[in-house]
Amino acid sequence: TKVTIGVDIGGTNTVFGFVDKNGKIIYSSSIPTHSDKDANQLFERLFNEINTSYKKFENEYKLVGIGIGAPNANYYKGTVEMPPNLNWGMVNVLELIKRYTPLPSAITNDANAAAIGEMIFGAAKGMKNFIVITLGTGLGSGIIVNGDLVYGNDGFAGEIGHTIVFPNGRECGCGRKGCLETYASATGIRRTVFELISSTNIQSKLREKSFEELTSKEIADAANAGDKLALAAFDYTAKILGMKLADSVAYLSPEAIILFGGLALAGDLIFEPTKKYLEENLLNIFKNKVKILPSALPGAEAAVLGSSALIWNELAKKNL
Ligand code: BGC
Ligand code: NA
Ligand code: ZN
Repeated sequence: TKVTIGVDIGGTNTVFGFVDKNGKIIYSSSIPTHSDKDANQLFERLFNEINTSYKKFENEYKLVGIGIGAPNANYYKGTVEMPPNLNWGMVNVLELIKRYTPLPSAITNDANAAAIGEMIFGAAKGMKNFIVITLGTGLGSGIIVNGDLVYGNDGFAGEIGHTIVFPNGRECGCGRKGCLETYASATGIRRTVFELISSTNIQSKLREKSFEELTSKEIADAANAGDKLALAAFDYTAKILGMKLADSVAYLSPEAIILFGGLALAGDLIFEPTKKYLEENLLNIFKNKVKILPSALPGAEAAVLGSSALIWNELAKKNL
């Protein structure tokens, strides 16, 4: 049986899996990305992992291609260019990985890969107009219009995470200030918690934590246990997210917006207020029409399935 390798490079973890043509994940695993190091060391570790894991499957499954999703990836050029949350600079990934594998390869933005995954195997089956928003270390988006992924002139379309919420707002990894992802992402909500800690007297058990040790999962656990500061942080995150999603509806008129990634796993804590603030901010003609849905694929696997679907698609075009 033929399988492709799907890879999702995140700001914190890199996930890979072996996926057959029907979207069945034969095996998946992840390694830490180590965002402070360069691309070379990640791919060296990644291919070590891949080769070791594949040994268990080589009798039954044949690798036929590799698809990669990464921040600031350019599908047309095969590059990753100055990703905000990785210390890579400019790298031609498709050139670089020839050192490690002779397999046919393709790359796209990580959120685009998630969108392809949702379209083919997940919550967006049968939809022609939708947006996937990934809420992880950063905020990514994959935009599908009339059934096609929007790449734009340069291949970088869909950088919703770097649209400005507040002039002179929080510093962003992209070098600018006030970007959406500095508020609405797993990192953004942690920043909000620390802002609330220093600017209010709200009691909270989160006050005992340092920024480095506090995860968005712990903020969600605290909020579910009734912690007022954690609840306020979710409300603020959703308020900003809902407002900017209303903008994206004005641009694109999607049928649905799918929230995906670490922070989306907080469930109702994020979905309920985001829906409320989205509706509040929508132009009248769009009210009560746009669905906000959770990813239908568990954890980071939508992106792995998406990266895999990307390369299956390329192979089909070349009749391989
Ligand atoms: C990058 C996007 C990426 C997102 C999620 C953002 O900072 O600019 O390209 O999709 O993070 O990783
Ligand atoms: Na994108
Ligand atoms: Zn930015």
